[in-house]
Amino acid sequence: MTKAVFASVSAVVASLLLVGAAAGQEASSPELIARGKALVSRHCAVCHAVTTTGDSPNPSAPRFRRLNERYDVEALSEGLAEGLAVGHGPMPEWTFPPADVTAIVAYLKSIQERGGPPLTTPAPPRP
Ligand code: HEC
Repeated sequence: MTKAVFASVSAVVASLLLVGAAAGQEASSPELIARGKALVSRHCAVCHAVTTTGDSPNPSAPRFRRLNERYDVEALSEGLAEGLAVGHGPMPEWTFPPADVTAIVAYLKSIQERGGPPLTTPAPPRP
């Protein structure tokens, strides 16, 4: 009995370590990108164009594939982790676990029409 409990505790610890490793990961795997796509399709697609085609259902919500024009997509991970609440008008407030943020950012990066740093002004500093 005791042995079984111990085994499941170490399984939990092992999976936490895996999540931590995924969050710190630089390279984005196809699995990570697919998970990010699923997350934004579920949570964001009511307002944003979340794929490589189409317009946003809410015209004032930026199309995700064009985010790079105004924001440093990498820097978004910070905002996402904090819930993206600040100054987003009708946007509801979310808090994603770090592994989800990593997946969403990996997906967003994968669909940007222009690579590299933002062409215009960088993302405004978060308070
Ligand atoms: C209810 C509609 C709605 C939903 C749902 C929504 N957004 Fe938005 N989002 C907006 C609007 C409108 C703007 C433009 C706000 C502005 O320009 O002030 C925006 C702006 C943004 C921006 C631009 C950054 C910024 O500071 O303006 C990002 C990034 C973003 N949304 C990400 C997301 C993500 C990720 C999700 C899903 C987790 C999501 N949004 C869900 C409506 C929405």
